[in-house]
Amino acid sequence: MSANLIDGKAVAAEIDARAGEVGAGLAAALGRAPCLAVVLIGDDPASDVYVRNKVRRTEAAGLTSIEIRKPADVREADVIAIVERLNQDEGVDGILVQMPLPDHINANRVISHIDPDKDVDGLTETSAGRLVLGQAGLRPCTPAGCVFLAERALGDLSGKSVVVIGRSILVGKPAALLFLEKNATVTIAHSRTADLPALCRTADILVPAVGRAEMVRGDWVKPGACVLDVGINRIDAPERGAGKSRLVGDVAFDEIVGHAGWITPVPGGIGPMTIAMLLRNTVIAAALRAKLPLPDDY
Ligand SMILES: NC(=O)c1ccc[n+]([C@@H]2O[C@H](COP(=O)([O-])OP(=O)(O)OC[C@H]3O[C@@H](n4cnc5c(N)ncnc54)[C@H](OP(=O)(O)O)[C@@H]3O)[C@@H](O)[C@H]2O)c1
Repeated sequence: MSANLIDGKAVAAEIDARAGEVGAGLAAALGRAPCLAVVLIGDDPASDVYVRNKVRRTEAAGLTSIEIRKPADVREADVIAIVERLNQDEGVDGILVQMPLPDHINANRVISHIDPDKDVDGLTETSAGRLVLGQAGLRPCTPAGCVFLAERALGDLSGKSVVVIGRSILVGKPAALLFLEKNATVTIAHSRTADLPALCRTADILVPAVGRAEMVRGDWVKPGACVLDVGINRIDAPERGAGKSRLVGDVAFDEIVGHAGWITPVPGGIGPMTIAMLLRNTVIAAALRAKLPLPDDY
């Protein structure tokens, strides 16, 4: 048996296109397209690539974006003032502050100033609270992308056994809650979990979100399981030439692809879905703020 590859890039392109369609429908009533504001502090090359991709995909879908860049030595108070200004700006529907922030800026303090109705990253305390309480709200993008792909592959997730490896605020915890919302039976594993391989073998859906290259081996995966590899790790690739590197996930893809039922590649799996969910959240935020209806299936 060989796993079906889940093409996150193709699914993300569908979601982007649909965000564009729904956004265009809202634009008629709003008098403008839904708008995402992205704040980038400093010159971290990886963050720069992420922000450029977010802006490019937003505009390609026909939504609008505002990009605000400040040098790494900007004061925390000035970043908070930018967020407050975007909160007040009626033309802005979604606010994203690209992480990580420089060490002298407290990320939690900055996030806490984002208007929860514009919190398209789903990171504020209010958004987290709404998720825990089962209330409607903007959900964190990477975990939402995982659930979307799992449903696309498996259909109804009710009763499925899910093991999420990782308990971060950004990925692991919200992923567990989102799968729970879908009536899956969820276990969260972390660095202190006993016999992780045995636990992973119980999973119908395995979601490694650790950040350790190829940690999950072939014999950790139940035959037929769906593996959603969130990890992004850069490793040396001397086979590509001196000094070259490549991206791998948290799973040993070649060992697992032979007997998993479904697997997401890295790159091209969960990564593109994160931006797709950001666009979707921007459209949802625009509709909710303007009290405009969204299509029933959105
Ligand atoms: N595809 C995307 O769009 C996307 C988005 C976000 C993140 N990511 C990637 O996803 C990965 C995780 O990101 P994150 O922000 O959640 O990372 P994080 O905050 O560093 O959390 C990592 C989690 O992994 C757990 N862990 C570490 N070593 C472990 C081990 N040996 N066995 C079991 N669990 C272990 C940690 O457990 P403890 O809590 O016990 O320390 C922690 O909960 C990274 O590779 C990141 O680049 C991808």
